[in-house]
Amino acid sequence: MHPLSRRHFIHHTALGLAGVATLSTAVRCGGTTRNTPHSKNPDSALAHLLSADLQTVLRDASLAPSSHNTQPWRIRIIEPLIWELEIDPSRRLPQVDPLNIELRLSLGAFIGNLRLSAAAHGYQTEIETRTDGEEKTIIRLHSDRAQAVSLDDLRLRRTIRKGLQDKEIAAADLDFLQKIAPEAIRFFPRRSPRGESLAQMTIEAFRAQSYRDPAQEELADWIRWSSREAESRRDGLTPASMDITGMAGWFVRTFYNRDSVLSSKFREQGVKMVIEQVENCGGWIVLEAENPALSTATLLQTGEHFLRLTLAARSRLIAVHPMSQTLEETPWKNEVAAQLGLQQRPAMILRVGYVDRYPRPVSLRRPPAEFCTTAG
Ligand SMILES: Cc1cc2nc3c(=O)[nH]c(=O)nc-3n(C[C@H](O)[C@H](O)[C@H](O)COP(=O)(O)O)c2cc1C
Repeated sequence: MHPLSRRHFIHHTALGLAGVATLSTAVRCGGTTRNTPHSKNPDSALAHLLSADLQTVLRDASLAPSSHNTQPWRIRIIEPLIWELEIDPSRRLPQVDPLNIELRLSLGAFIGNLRLSAAAHGYQTEIETRTDGEEKTIIRLHSDRAQAVSLDDLRLRRTIRKGLQDKEIAAADLDFLQKIAPEAIRFFPRRSPRGESLAQMTIEAFRAQSYRDPAQEELADWIRWSSREAESRRDGLTPASMDITGMAGWFVRTFYNRDSVLSSKFREQGVKMVIEQVENCGGWIVLEAENPALSTATLLQTGEHFLRLTLAARSRLIAVHPMSQTLEETPWKNEVAAQLGLQQRPAMILRVGYVDRYPRPVSLRRPPAEFCTTAG
């Protein structure tokens, strides 16, 4: 076959195949969604022990953000209103988060959602972090009058990485966000010297991490390319949660696998995407943790601040995109505090910007039965 006509053939066949695929996969053309029924049976032990409201509280808590969507929480139900929250060690990210900093921030976000949903369902939440021996966090729920808390915010929150405008964040909106934790929230406009410095550090650290094989392999382990894997695991990053949608989404769901993440093309495309992302935003919010920065109580509290910040931002059509590589890679993680004029290394770096509309959440979650065990 003539090379040109062959190229034509491939082109048309690919389009033809894509057409067929579009029809035959119309029902699931967006891949697995949060509403796709779960293939595994719910745990009836949990249903026996907890009221429907308390099961909803756990489901709401699990909608919290977590790095690579690892959902690193494990709950042991001691009594219906006393729960123990611990790290699930199989969900750690030793390459990018060896000290479990992001992991504990994610647990803090989980507590944030839990507290809000519990309040809406008529419970006050008491948190106790035990540091004697093995570290454990005890959650006690006390019956109370139900608070008028809207759960739409936490159920519709998501990480937004695409479509951020490079418009300045209005002073009134900044005030509104800063009120959540005035001592912890620092804002750097995109065009300020420190904003530029954050953009530069983010690109460099992202590039370094992309070419650090163990870190890239760890990322590959948490990407669920196929719908089948996404449906059964219900965690990690899916094409939809990485904003790869439409025909491109179908293509990667069908043809990409773990090795694709390790290819130089994938790494290069990632760096290119980050260069565009840092150009397009209103600025950066840096979350500081109080001293001692690495204590669990502090990180849980900072994670909760982060959660509440994202919920408040949603109400103002402000997207929040954590970009953590600067805090994960050497030398940037040791230099960032000095570059920003801060006393200590920040806990989180967030790209923020207005969006025209707030898209619906798409990242998957495991049901409570999969992260809860019952005592005894
Ligand atoms: C501590 C922490 C660090 C994160 N770091 C990044 C990051 O560096 N890049 C990114 O794109 N998303 C990051 N995320 C967002 C997660 O990927 C996201 O929360 C997860 O995939 C679930 O999606 P959702 O937030 O839309 O529910 C981070 C989230 C947390 C809690």
